[in-house]
Amino acid sequence: MGRPLYVVGNWKMNTTYADAMVVVGEVNNNVQKVKNVTTIYLPPYIWIVPLLEKYPKINIGAQNMYYKEEGAYTGEISPRMLKGVVDYVLLGHSERRSIFKEDNPTINAKLKTALKFNFKPILAIGETRPIGMKSLTDEGISQRIMHSDIIHDLKASARGLTKAEWSRLIIAYEPVWAIGTGKNADGVYAARIVREIRDLIAQLTSREVADKIPILYGGSVNRQNAAEYAGQREIDGVLVGGASLKAKDFSDIVEAFGQSHKWRRDEAN
Ligand code: PGA
Repeated sequence: MGRPLYVVGNWKMNTTYADAMVVVGEVNNNVQKVKNVTTIYLPPYIWIVPLLEKYPKINIGAQNMYYKEEGAYTGEISPRMLKGVVDYVLLGHSERRSIFKEDNPTINAKLKTALKFNFKPILAIGETRPIGMKSLTDEGISQRIMHSDIIHDLKASARGLTKAEWSRLIIAYEPVWAIGTGKNADGVYAARIVREIRDLIAQLTSREVADKIPILYGGSVNRQNAAEYAGQREIDGVLVGGASLKAKDFSDIVEAFGQSHKWRRDEAN
């Protein structure tokens, strides 16, 4: 059995009510035949309930969540409000880290709360500048990645998690320099970093746990480059921003991962 595959659409602060309904309706039609890929939508909070009323079978997550259960926190959404409505919660996205100044201890508190409430957290991490790999040995590349903000943020965001909690995470590796820039990291680069992330998780937990955790790539994924990630055995899916707003593009990305399922399964057997 290989790991499950995920394609996640992070709509950010985009879409009207009408856009939201149309995108999901069209994607649903287009990807009906794609099995073995879990498609997850992360719409703005306000569209979550109407989307679920119209399309009760879709997988929905929140783009963010506060770590307190209730109280005087103007503008925030609590785990108790999301409970029973969404299954997934995205935490630590680079826009939350940079624009809204969320630091690792805050993300750690959110992550622990999300686990306590039995959500499936999607934890995002990524480096701000590309890691030079040219003319380095494999060991040299490992060292560079191990000393990067990727690993630092992963360790700090997930500090104190038990093995059982680790095994419930989905990791989104998203190089900050690739998000919304049109400059995607190539498949080989992304796969190399994902391998290092998995090795680190193995050190912190066990090889068995690390081998089960889905690790996605995100950053300027589109219908043209999706196959590049689907073709890497280390990468278990993608987190898509801009291209998830266009039904055709997003459907093609889901399709690309659907097509990769067969060789992944053959390889795992
Ligand atoms: P992008 O965003 O696909 O528009 O680069 C990715 C993300 O922020 O998750």
